[in-house]
Amino acid sequence: MREYNLCIIVIAALIVTQPDRTLATLQCYSCNSLITESGSCLLSPSTENTIPCETQCYTQFSAGNLTRGCLENGTPCTSPSCSSCTTEKCNTNLVCQECLGLEDCATTNVTNTEYNTLCDIGQVCVNQLNDNKTVTRQCGVSCAAGTESTCSSCTESLCNVGLYPKNRRQCYTCSGAECNAVTSTSVAGCSQIDAGCFTTGTSTSNMTRGCTSATTNVNCAADSSDPSCLVCNSDFCNSLAYQRDAGSCIICEKCAPLQFATDAKSCGEAQYNQTVGCYTMTSGTNVSRGCLNTLEAGCSTTNSCTSCSENACNVAASEIKCIECISNEVSGCWSASDPATLPAVSCPNGTCFSGVWNELGVRGCFTNASHLMQYQCDAKVEAYQCIMCTESLCNKHTFNGAGTLGQVGLVGLLMGLVIALRSAL
Ligand SMILES: *[C@@H]1O[C@H](CO)[C@@H](O)[C@H](O)[C@H]1NC(C)=O
Ligand SMILES: *[C@@H]1O[C@H](CO)[C@@H](O)[C@H](O)[C@H]1NC(C)=O
Ligand SMILES: *[C@@H]1O[C@H](CO)[C@@H](O)[C@H](O)[C@H]1NC(C)=O
Ligand SMILES: *[C@@H]1O[C@H](CO)[C@@H](O)[C@H](O)[C@H]1NC(C)=O
Ligand SMILES: *[C@@H]1O[C@H](CO)[C@@H](O)[C@H](O)[C@H]1NC(C)=O
Ligand SMILES: *[C@@H]1O[C@H](CO)[C@@H](O)[C@H](O)[C@H]1NC(C)=O
Ligand SMILES: *[C@@H]1O[C@H](CO)[C@@H](O)[C@H](O)[C@H]1NC(C)=O
Ligand SMILES: *[C@@H]1O[C@H](CO)[C@@H](O)[C@H](O)[C@H]1NC(C)=O
Repeated sequence: MREYNLCIIVIAALIVTQPDRTLATLQCYSCNSLITESGSCLLSPSTENTIPCETQCYTQFSAGNLTRGCLENGTPCTSPSCSSCTTEKCNTNLVCQECLGLEDCATTNVTNTEYNTLCDIGQVCVNQLNDNKTVTRQCGVSCAAGTESTCSSCTESLCNVGLYPKNRRQCYTCSGAECNAVTSTSVAGCSQIDAGCFTTGTSTSNMTRGCTSATTNVNCAADSSDPSCLVCNSDFCNSLAYQRDAGSCIICEKCAPLQFATDAKSCGEAQYNQTVGCYTMTSGTNVSRGCLNTLEAGCSTTNSCTSCSENACNVAASEIKCIECISNEVSGCWSASDPATLPAVSCPNGTCFSGVWNELGVRGCFTNASHLMQYQCDAKVEAYQCIMCTESLCNKHTFNGAGTLGQVGLVGLLMGLVIALRSAL
């Protein structure tokens, strides 16, 4: 009997002290978490406890502090920091990144709290690739089918952080004293998905690296012609230090024959915007070899230069090349006024020739001429204007006469030439 009475008293006390709970009509999630903790209140509210509420649930988000619970009558709750709802367990609002086409929207990788925003009930987190290649992140509706290449949506809080799209260009991005030797902490995505990476600077303590699409003070454009700008086009490619060891090469002049790798000398230090490697260059009879980082004009076919990238790799004997053409086949062959534009062949024998046969200008490697033509050259038969020479691309002598047959049909002329040469034999 005593126990029964006690029970009555307890129930009565509950009714008296909590009168409002008896009016509760819906359950709301109730929890609190700081965004930095990324707890279940943020990520999976439906696993949190519910409490009975009178009429409304709310989700409040301010200064990285997320709270869900009952909205007391008369308490203001307005977007963007607060969202209320009136159905069972409805306060499951997500927090998403919101960043509308700004440069940072594409580059942010870690949870960047300044962009966190509270979504309305039912909204999901969306990343959208814009036509101008920037990214818009926001709360919204799920991406439509077929838009996978430009849209990505997800249903958990803060799921739209990170690089988007995943294949966005990433470059080392830094400046100043800590920017000479790069580290993974300075990697960032670029505001344009297909940007280049650049390196520029004036000393080990004043380097700047980044994406060509960046709009910071010191920047190199993708098509920059500034010689101090080194632009490359793959992820993390802008990593060269201000100076680096340039390796070793054969360094010599007038040295066409095969060289000994053991004679290679140090190339010193190369700057970030210099190529490292060795070259062999032919100018006239002078074959010179050296380090690419000392070659200001660069190394290409236009200056009869070949290059290689290993230490002491420029040892090979230099080959002689000859212009090879027939005037009715190759325009410019008759005058050879622009020899660099004419076809050239390697000529291991080392002697080039040019001459006129059957009113056609002929240039080539001497060993590739017919025996008759070789004889006529050796004998200096004047009609053929034959000249032999032993330097690379030396057979560029302009022929006398107009080369009148140069315009006539190719096949007929070649036949004529072959017949003429045969009958002469
Ligand atoms: C977060 O918000 C809740 C409810 O408004 C409050 O009780 C708590 O003190 C806040 N925490 C911080 C760290 O601001
Ligand atoms: C790129 O396009 C988006 C969406 O149209 C726009 O919000 C943003 O301002 C644009 N950004 C730039 C840099 O043009
Ligand atoms: C982005 O963040 C993730 C997780 O912290 C990390 O694994 C990744 O390397 C980061 N990427 C960049 C480009 O910083
Ligand atoms: C640092 O480098 C930038 C260009 O990358 C240049 O404009 C600036 O003058 C340099 N500062 C110093 C102190 O050399
Ligand atoms: C490298 O950059 C410097 C300026 O920092 C410039 O004077 C030099 O010409 C550049 N070298 C090359 C090979 O472009
Ligand atoms: C050989 O060529 C190199 C590079 O072009 C040049 O510096 C040098 O003066 C030339 N030497 C001679 C003897 O022509
Ligand atoms: C070039 O060829 C001729 C005849 O075929 C030969 O006598 C001569 O030794 C060769 N010269 C070289 C440098 O190979
Ligand atoms: C030799 O000459 C012929 C005809 O002119 C040409 O087709 C061929 O490519 C030449 N070969 C070499 C090694 O120069």
